[in-house]
Amino acid sequence: MMYSPKVMQHFSNPQNVGEIPDADGVGEVGNPVCGDLMTIYIKVKDNKLSDIKFKTFGCAAAIATSSIITTMAKGMTLEDAVKISRNDVAKELGGLPPQKMHCSNLAADALKLAIENYRRKLQGLPPRTGVTEGEEEHAEDGASCPPEEHK
Ligand code: FES
Repeated sequence: MMYSPKVMQHFSNPQNVGEIPDADGVGEVGNPVCGDLMTIYIKVKDNKLSDIKFKTFGCAAAIATSSIITTMAKGMTLEDAVKISRNDVAKELGGLPPQKMHCSNLAADALKLAIENYRRKLQGLPPRTGVTEGEEEHAEDGASCPPEEHK
């Protein structure tokens, strides 16, 4: 499988890795098939993403997509950032191999969830989690995230 130079660059030198302990919003999502996990932390100032960091336990594509989405979203208004799609992420990386396209879901979903949880917090609502329970039930459904990709 061939990754684009930009994927390799963000995988070897990921940007904005880490946690924001006093984050305004946190989005944690998991891929129910491969079990990869991604958490995005955001700080919001004047309706813009003033800071954004991520922690990802996943494949090379999952790490590269989380890194690039933080660089894309930083400084954006919440309205613009929430519109970043899975395809935008893959496009910004110079494409992903077809069997790795689903890995970009994690990044776009985690950012959306972080923003949603920020908005929920403003309304006094508890945060939502995007980590699916009962992974075993989905493991056989063929939505490929092959274990050999995790080496
Ligand atoms: Fe699991 Fe990429 S997110 S293989």
